[in-house]
Amino acid sequence: MSRPYYIAGNWKMHKTRAEAAELVKELSARLKDGKHRYLVAPGFTLLETVAALVRDSNIRLGAQNMAAEEQGAHTGEVSVLQLKDIGVRTVILGHSERRHVYREDDALINRKVRLALRHGLEVILCVGELLEEREAGRAEAVCETQTVRGLEGVSAAELPNIVIAYEPVWAIGTGKTATPEDADAIHAWIRKVIGRLYGAAAAENIIIQYGGSVKAENAAQLMAKENIDGALVGGAALKADTFVPIAMFA
Ligand code: 13P
Repeated sequence: MSRPYYIAGNWKMHKTRAEAAELVKELSARLKDGKHRYLVAPGFTLLETVAALVRDSNIRLGAQNMAAEEQGAHTGEVSVLQLKDIGVRTVILGHSERRHVYREDDALINRKVRLALRHGLEVILCVGELLEEREAGRAEAVCETQTVRGLEGVSAAELPNIVIAYEPVWAIGTGKTATPEDADAIHAWIRKVIGRLYGAAAAENIIIQYGGSVKAENAAQLMAKENIDGALVGGAALKADTFVPIAMFA
């Protein structure tokens, strides 16, 4: 299999600048010989601090969200131009907390995806079902819809800048992880959807991360699955001692 593993830390709304600097210094030291791709996504006010510290490392800088418009009268939003200016190379879009707490829908997420791609950013597009959707047997359908709508208008040439993160909402921050088998089945389904939209080679090449209570104890079993190409880590990304073992999984 030719896909690289891609391990990302989503720091959500945690840390001050001093705490962020301390963490990222330790990560860059401990991951410098790491074999996989790495990313950290700190909150907006931390980006400049972290940008300076990852510049000469193998850790990419990501943001957790951005506005759907390039600039203008959008009080409280952060623009793609501002992110690029600070050195951000990747943006997480459609995270379940954006979808379900802040009511972002597929159409809005799609506008953000296209804007980010137009500016050359890599996008981690998050998809995932709620517990009630899983129990109703709709996990595949929900992930398919979010994938198809999220990628509307995205060309085959732009697709290499897309990473999908499958994050079942019921597994986020709950300590409940999808079994490697269940996660792999959804990843395989998403890969099939990509194949239908963009062809077999695109499906083979797209990186699909798993997110939802990933820890050192379950990372290797998840990554061993054919269709799981990395992780989007929340809680365990907040300390080097919990993130590094995931990032260096063997
Ligand atoms: P946890 O790892 O805390 O479950 O969070 C997952 C997540 O939402 C990453 O984006």
